[in-house]
Amino acid sequence: KKYLALALLLCVLISLSDSQCIFKHRTPERENQTHCQDSVDLTWHPIGTKWRNSVCQVCTCDECCNGYSTPRKFPEDCVSVFDPKSCQYVVHKKDNPSVLCPVFAAVGK
Ligand SMILES: *[C@@H]1O[C@H](CO)[C@@H](O)[C@H](O)[C@H]1NC(C)=O
Repeated sequence: KKYLALALLLCVLISLSDSQCIFKHRTPERENQTHCQDSVDLTWHPIGTKWRNSVCQVCTCDECCNGYSTPRKFPEDCVSVFDPKSCQYVVHKKDNPSVLCPVFAAVGK
């Protein structure tokens, strides 16, 4: 029962979300016939592959999408904090970081 509720919640969160993608400007300095360069990390990747860069974006040679979702609706006594290590927002009580809060809506991913 508990898992079913969790699965339903996940479905709701996923259906509420829409991806946030940025088209990349292709420039000759940033690509050759076989590879293109990540604009943040300056690393090179074969065309047609996907990678995650150091600012949590999932990129291809054409676009970068945020690889995380942004909490939009949560209780007023809570704050959302981005954790760059796990590439996720964590929502916790303002006065007690160890108490996590439910997120009612999120965008992204
Ligand atoms: C394109 O750039 C990558 C990374 O610098 C390099 O490994 C590859 O050999 C280059 N390919 C061509 C066709 O110049």
